[in-house]
Amino acid sequence: MQIAIDGPAGAGKSTIAKKIAQIYGITYLDTGAMYRCVAHCVLKELGDCFSDQAAIIKIAKTVKIEFKQDQVFCNGEDVTLEIRTPLVSQHTSDVAKISEVRNILVKQQQEYAKKNPVIMDGRDIGSVVLPHAEFKFYLDADVTERAYRRHKELVQKNIEKDLEEIKQEIESRDENDKNRLVGPLCQVDEAILIDTTGRGIDEVVALIKSYIDGETI
Ligand code: DC
Repeated sequence: MQIAIDGPAGAGKSTIAKKIAQIYGITYLDTGAMYRCVAHCVLKELGDCFSDQAAIIKIAKTVKIEFKQDQVFCNGEDVTLEIRTPLVSQHTSDVAKISEVRNILVKQQQEYAKKNPVIMDGRDIGSVVLPHAEFKFYLDADVTERAYRRHKELVQKNIEKDLEEIKQEIESRDENDKNRLVGPLCQVDEAILIDTTGRGIDEVVALIKSYIDGETI
């Protein structure tokens, strides 16, 4: 079983995908975390020198990314919290627009999907990573609500950030993700669009489940 979930930042993709994975007993692969790991390593090894593409590609080629339950490890180091900081978020789209970096990570994601039933979330899952997935969903939500959700997540992690600033960053990330040349964020024709604005997690999960179980056509 392969399920693809795409959509912009803060649309609820990872929360929903984790729950769907539990329901169907399949693995959840957070592809955004993989791009975040590369950005984290670049920050660690090169400072914020995101203009050195050759060095970034070298890091993407050698970095060892592992998922263990809810934790993410980068070259053996637990980076679960570090990869969610605003600094890493801001730089992740810089690494995600480099085609060689995308090729390296897409290949790993596809290899994983060959061996495991999987639900993946990201930006290019339905279009590039799993073009033959049985189920494809595109989750979207009003940008103000997406900013509120991110703000709430940051507050829970004791990270202070102005709501308007978060909204602007989300808009700028969406813009980068939609307009890059390789693997841009897009809704493929066969993906089911789900607007999560004003909808609770359980409601969205139930809706997706009804599509997968063939109850909603
Ligand atoms: O889903 P997220 O917010 O963790 O994604 C972090 C960044 O990585 C975001 O700028 C988009 C990018 N990304 C991507 O380009 N392709 C993916 N498959 C997943 C994420």
